[in-house]
Amino acid sequence: MVEVKSDTKVQIDLLISPIGELATPHLDSGPARGNAMDSIKKVHDGAIAIKDGLIVYAGRREEVLSKVRLDNATTIDATNKLVTPGLIDPHTHLVFGGNRHEEFAMRCQGKTYKEIADQGGGIVASMRGTREATVQDLIGLGKQRLERILAHGTTSCEVKTGYGLDRQSELNMLEAILTLDSMQPVELTPTFMPAHAVPPGTQREAYVTEVIEDMLPAAAELAKKKAYPTSAIYVDVFCDEGYFTLEDTKRIFDKAISLGMKLKVHSDEFKSLGATALACEMGAHSADHLLAITDSDIDRLASSSCVAVLLPGTSFFLNLKEHAPARTMIDKGVAVAIGSDFNPGSCHIFSMPFIMGLACLKLGMTAAEALTAATMNSAYAIGRGENIGQLREGYQADIVLWNVSKLAEIPYNMGWNSVETVIKKGAKCE
Ligand code: NIG
Ligand code: FE
Repeated sequence: MVEVKSDTKVQIDLLISPIGELATPHLDSGPARGNAMDSIKKVHDGAIAIKDGLIVYAGRREEVLSKVRLDNATTIDATNKLVTPGLIDPHTHLVFGGNRHEEFAMRCQGKTYKEIADQGGGIVASMRGTREATVQDLIGLGKQRLERILAHGTTSCEVKTGYGLDRQSELNMLEAILTLDSMQPVELTPTFMPAHAVPPGTQREAYVTEVIEDMLPAAAELAKKKAYPTSAIYVDVFCDEGYFTLEDTKRIFDKAISLGMKLKVHSDEFKSLGATALACEMGAHSADHLLAITDSDIDRLASSSCVAVLLPGTSFFLNLKEHAPARTMIDKGVAVAIGSDFNPGSCHIFSMPFIMGLACLKLGMTAAEALTAATMNSAYAIGRGENIGQLREGYQADIVLWNVSKLAEIPYNMGWNSVETVIKKGAKCE
């Protein structure tokens, strides 16, 4: 045991102790690749000391206790409980109006995503529901969903626009996301995605020009007005057959970079158009979906800093047989994250523990890989790898206490919520 003189002890405000099992990815410089995704740190009889919303120490109980002063500190008992970092969902479309339950029923009758979209469903159906909603409506709906998401262990998540598909409606969505970020505990990463679908009655080329010349600058302007750093906003494009071309994606990305925004892409969901290689070349933080990724693009991702965000809930909810080739990607050294893709159509699932279950069942990941993918690697996918996603000194105290004692029980319990307590920035969420 390390001997520490009492006067050097740190006065903390929150102690989680004793902890049955503390499980966390732990790497000085992430994201984790290859075997490192599976080799997480596990501490039995652990403790976490927190001060001013940050972790001061996380490790063996005796050692942590020897380094801290507890005058007036609150203690949370996690005896026999599993404790992990807060889950991070790097891909959602959680702000939308209306719902698409009829599409679910159509899919159960054997209709594909494309057939449903061709009959007036899909993204354009949510465009109608979203345009009918006011900013206040969108905020109200988003807030309810974020409460549920938090209760399932997600402490940070990315949220995209993309159901407005005209200047004002896209700005309304962005305004709702920025407002939601400031009014509830789940930290949001805003993504501007007017290039989610071409609105009906508009030519694709004309729409892309409008996105570049008008909508992206207006989004940057809105961020400025709300005192939100433009550099913390992402731009995403749905680069796929029937949506946007590789050339459209490149033009939109050039503009986003010139405005100081960061990049993400919906790539290779149905067909590979080359967006994954483009994402690597242009420094995107993530390329998402990747069901139809080519072998050469797997190699490109492995040697780039771009994170592969896999969305097993979407292939599950779309009732597809295929899933992204996660095993090959991990074995080849791609930094793999997982997200929910929570949206009204292709994946009406927000529970990250459920997504971890699917990652194990459908993507062949271990429970430890699924945890790394849902915490540290998803933090890197949203540019936050140095603040969140690990239980370690200096990291934000975003923590989940589970009603189970072993990590492998999280994916196993996929059908019920085994989250007991969520702590965000050192504060217990009630
Ligand atoms: O990520 N693929 C594109 N966008 C969403 C689908 C959204 C929708 O169907 O509303 C997705 O799956
Ligand atoms: Fe998506």
